[in-house]
Amino acid sequence: MAQAPVSTTIQQEFAERFAGSRAMHERSRQVIPGGITHDGRHMKPFPPYIARAQGAYKWDVDGNRLIDYVMGHGSLLFGHNDPDILAAMQAQLPLGTHLGAGHELEVRWAEQVSALVPSAEQVKFTGSGTEATLLAIRVARSFTRKPIIVKLEGHFHGWHDYLLKGEKPPFESAANPGIPPEVLSTVAVVPSDDLGMLEERLAQGDVAALILEPSGGSWATIPFVEGFLQAARDLTTKYGVVLIFDEVITGFRWAPGGAQQRYGVIPDLTTMAKIVAGGMPGGALGGRRQIMEVLAFKDDAEWNATRKVRHQGTYNASPVVSAAGAACLRKAADPAVQRYCDDLAARLRAGFNAAMLERGVPGYAWGESSVFHLALGERAPNQLGGDLRMPQGVSAEALKRSGHGKLIELAHLGLMLEGVELFHAGGMTSRAHSEADIDETIAAFGRVLDRLRDEGAFAA
Ligand SMILES: Cc1ncc(COP(=O)(O)O)c(C=O)c1O
Repeated sequence: MAQAPVSTTIQQEFAERFAGSRAMHERSRQVIPGGITHDGRHMKPFPPYIARAQGAYKWDVDGNRLIDYVMGHGSLLFGHNDPDILAAMQAQLPLGTHLGAGHELEVRWAEQVSALVPSAEQVKFTGSGTEATLLAIRVARSFTRKPIIVKLEGHFHGWHDYLLKGEKPPFESAANPGIPPEVLSTVAVVPSDDLGMLEERLAQGDVAALILEPSGGSWATIPFVEGFLQAARDLTTKYGVVLIFDEVITGFRWAPGGAQQRYGVIPDLTTMAKIVAGGMPGGALGGRRQIMEVLAFKDDAEWNATRKVRHQGTYNASPVVSAAGAACLRKAADPAVQRYCDDLAARLRAGFNAAMLERGVPGYAWGESSVFHLALGERAPNQLGGDLRMPQGVSAEALKRSGHGKLIELAHLGLMLEGVELFHAGGMTSRAHSEADIDETIAAFGRVLDRLRDEGAFAA
């Protein structure tokens, strides 16, 4: 693999141009461990600190404008400060930010989720995506009265104790500090491309649920081979296992009804967050009525005391979040929105691939729907300069690691200097991005590749 030099003019220029962020990071590190509030924002030499955002752009504390592909970690399908979502929140604010009771907005919001998402006959709201997957596995365990959750290598389902296992490479042996071995032993991890191993594990008879990201791990970083989802559906049905699609990223992005609608494979339970809450803190669990009923009180004291699954949460469906979610889903119901974002991302993936191929630079861009990923330093045999869904001949671990390493770090900083912010080594498009933004990004990427090459970053 090509090695990049330790220090380049890119790093020096970044430290100078983003000096305000550097100072803020120093201050932050005194009171916030590592200076960041989400591990995904870890960045060397320091991350940017953002002062404001609008549409497809963010401005940092030094006034640098960035075309934003982080897009609220994927939660902003309509970009920053969408006027309709903002107006809905502003209308609710003076009516109360916490009513300590049910309210019409949460009912309307649930009706919208149920109308859009094929599997969601009923809906329960949570405070985040992490809480949604936590609730999903509790519901599945209670419904089936079985203990084991099966998940796939490289798939991310939030940061609670149960589902971090097998998420980061090395999949089989990554350390999980702070998580008791007893908890880890209740989760089985299988490779995301081996239906034989999946069937073997499901057939053991102790499995409550299979949970997966229907895009493939980490929002299509590790794409599924054709037919995997349907096979997973068939196997879970065969063995009486609850199938959970984690649609925290894909929900309302892959299609108005999420990946399940796009691929025509319907799970038993669906977890959602991000877009479902209009970019505000919230999440949801949707699913078949028969399963979701384990969450309902009944006129049966015995059931309520011993069988009903418990679920609380001070901020579940809080009114301002419900207003944002309902306003967002009204707009996301139009499939032209997803088509627009998909087209922009396809243009970006193809543009990145063409830029690398033209320069003879090893690397590839890939993805699906409105997401893209970028690897530098390696070649994929099927990278032909156009759009690419699935890099062939690259292992799941290598794909998952592609967002790290010196070359990607330098490209990330180089793009920041050009006014573009990626999310790790990829990102998401939104309804707020324009074709001009995409073309500006592709041109910027070309200049960064030239600069990296001139500084010897691709030298073997
Ligand atoms: C697929 C998936 N599931 C769950 C989560 C966790 O959601 P949250 O960050 O809202 O807890 C994420 C977050 O990025 C995610 O991508």
